[in-house]
Amino acid sequence: MIQHLAIVGATGVVGREFLKILEQRDPAIDRVSLLASPRSAGTKISVRNKEITVEATSAEKLAGVTVAVFSAGASVSREYAPIIARAGGVVIDNSSAFRMDPDVPLVIPEINAGDIAKHNGIIANPNCTTIMLLMAVAPIHRAFGVKRIVVSTYQAASGAGIEAMNELTKQSRDYLDGKERRAEIFPHPIAFNLFAHDSSVEANGYNGEENKVVNETRKILHEPTMPIAVTCVRVPIMRAHSESINLEFHDPVTPEQIRALFASSPGTKLVDDRERSYFPMPIDADGIDDVLVGRIRSDISRPDGRGIELFVSGDQLRKGAALNAIQIAESLGAAE
Ligand SMILES: NC(=O)c1ccc[n+]([C@@H]2O[C@H](COP(=O)([O-])OP(=O)(O)OC[C@H]3O[C@@H](n4cnc5c(N)ncnc54)[C@H](OP(=O)(O)O)[C@@H]3O)[C@@H](O)[C@H]2O)c1
Repeated sequence: MIQHLAIVGATGVVGREFLKILEQRDPAIDRVSLLASPRSAGTKISVRNKEITVEATSAEKLAGVTVAVFSAGASVSREYAPIIARAGGVVIDNSSAFRMDPDVPLVIPEINAGDIAKHNGIIANPNCTTIMLLMAVAPIHRAFGVKRIVVSTYQAASGAGIEAMNELTKQSRDYLDGKERRAEIFPHPIAFNLFAHDSSVEANGYNGEENKVVNETRKILHEPTMPIAVTCVRVPIMRAHSESINLEFHDPVTPEQIRALFASSPGTKLVDDRERSYFPMPIDADGIDDVLVGRIRSDISRPDGRGIELFVSGDQLRKGAALNAIQIAESLGAAE
């Protein structure tokens, strides 16, 4: 039982998805508080047949909270999460604020649930792109030992929040009406275009999103030197990220072995129909919990059989954020 759950960022896309999943999974919770910026204070949201008024986030409003899920950006997490942790509550943080902090477990429950017990009041939810990648790669790594990962992503607009989704809609309409596609949220037009992920390029030439995938993957797998090369791309898809993944192994591995693994890997669904050319697509991943895994084939450039290619699509608002957070909250509730 969770005594007092606070959802910080309740009015955002991740917060709203979290509330939807709360209705669906209906975990035992005594009291729910909804918090956001002062802009949303007074907004009423129905949660489990009860109307709750959104309040402006403050230390006062967080007093007595036993579990808080933060989806309001890194600066809000940095300001308020330590206050809750110091008061004996637990924070599950969707932002990047604490992910690489050695004292903060970074958790995908299907992969490293054991790390939850090491928390000191803050547990970090990984970046959505990392979660999608590892839902496919971690079971393969456990079974066959992955030597190197190369991944290219196809990331939906909703990964950047509500305003980015609105921008995709508006630009699409404008483009079809023959008008200019004006970029305000993203750095470039997103409708009928794609571009390198909108996070800043860092000193090593990779952008922030790409470096997050590398660092977080290593932390979650407990493989601090795992070689990973990442290219992150934003595409004009409203919802659900996709990734093209190439894996290198120490020993030969067959597509049949990989397919057999996904017949029973929790949180994933095998979609791999060569005859119908039916493979993971965002349109099928949108709104569901499972990460779709398919397009499994032997790497043609590796006649020694030590390479596998695959493709995944997953709803980054669900498994990539809200669902993963609620799974962590549920395991805390069960432990209490
Ligand atoms: N979108 C994804 O797929 C995804 C996936 C994984 C992680 N995340 C992370 O989740 C967080 C939220 O992302 P989102 O996509 O849901 O963004 P969003 O749709 O833009 O929502 C942002 C939320 O944060 C609130 N907020 C903004 N400034 C605040 C402040 N100063 N104090 C309190 N609340 C504030 C907003 O409240 P108002 O409505 O009042 O402005 C809103 O509820 C980010 O840290 C993001 O990196 C997102």
